[in-house]
Amino acid sequence: MTARFADYQFGIYFDALNGRISDFPMDHGTLESKAMAVLPPSLRSYVAGGAGDEATQRRNVEVFSRWGLVPRMLVGAEHRDLSVTLWGTTFPGPIFMAPVGVIGLVTDHGDIAVAQAAAQTGVPAMFSTLMVDPLEEVIGHAGPTASFFQLYTPRDRDLAASLVQRAEKAGYRGIAVTLDTWTPGWRPRDLTSGSFPQLRGHALANYTSDPVFRRLAEGGDVVRTWASVFGNPLSWNDLGWLRSLTELPIVLKGICHPDDARRAIDAGVDGIYCSNHGGRQANGGLSALELLPAVAEACGDVPVLFDSGVRSGTDVVKAIGLGATMVGIGRPYVHGLALGGVPGLVHLLRSVLAEADLLMAVNGYPDFAAVRANTRRAA
Ligand code: FNR
Repeated sequence: MTARFADYQFGIYFDALNGRISDFPMDHGTLESKAMAVLPPSLRSYVAGGAGDEATQRRNVEVFSRWGLVPRMLVGAEHRDLSVTLWGTTFPGPIFMAPVGVIGLVTDHGDIAVAQAAAQTGVPAMFSTLMVDPLEEVIGHAGPTASFFQLYTPRDRDLAASLVQRAEKAGYRGIAVTLDTWTPGWRPRDLTSGSFPQLRGHALANYTSDPVFRRLAEGGDVVRTWASVFGNPLSWNDLGWLRSLTELPIVLKGICHPDDARRAIDAGVDGIYCSNHGGRQANGGLSALELLPAVAEACGDVPVLFDSGVRSGTDVVKAIGLGATMVGIGRPYVHGLALGGVPGLVHLLRSVLAEADLLMAVNGYPDFAAVRANTRRAA
């Protein structure tokens, strides 16, 4: 039975007939500006800001307009299959919530709120290492929806092993190892306010609840200990060790070159996550979307996760058209949660899915094979 995401649209119209107009914006631009107005200034700059003059961050978004979808008529695409099977689990739709380290601060117990939205929508979340509540506590709120854990690999190998093994034991279904953030990029907005949440002791619950970290921090300062162990500049030689830590699928986040994708797959990873961290880490790059087709080609049958610049259901469909298996929503879900708590986030996720589903309906695409066959670069 395929999910009928498009029905969300008629729900909104029929509610309006009964005098109930939704409080939530229907487009991302309005959602973003309203969310920014309610976030405290330090979080606003942390969420909105990127590296350098933010050229890569803007390009991530703008470049989606360089690709277009060719409509196909008389297909009768009344039933559409937007489901995706990833490492043995089938999800009703092709999106997931990308790891966002400060989501726990965006609303009260924000990581738990994300898990609750995952439970309500079936959209899986990939939870950051940086959480306000410990990973064991958070996953319990995701109901039947699978959850993934994102690892910022610490310099201390025992701590890395402990985090991964805790995630495995708690029931997470895969580990995303983020490669591009062993040190933060140059972020003028955060530098201007001197604000970096983790250095103020926020979102460190997975560390402070960890027996290995506690040993490392014994008699010292938690934040300083955290800063000294946080970022491991991994090399190819570390992949075998990472692989040995868990039976769970491992996906590498931040791979943007086909040679890196091939080498990682040869080393035994289970997925490639093409992303430039939303332009928050390295400025001066191409957009992640421009790099996606070559990465996807190098991956063959190995799943390709993608994020960076996705702002709508249309963007989701285009990313799938260019080779993504599953598409990560980043900042937009932060905005949904900031503005409307769990209901605001659920609305955002349902809106993205409804738009993607309706786009496939009117364009005559019953499935993602049709999407891929009809995605073109604009002249
Ligand atoms: C992130 N991202 C991120 N990635 C990661 O692997 N671990 C993390 O803890 C975080 N934290 C984080 C915080 C905030 C505020 C943002 C906006 C992003 C990156 C995230 O997973 C994703 O790659 C980007 O958000 C994609 O870019 P857009 O689409 O949000 O612009």
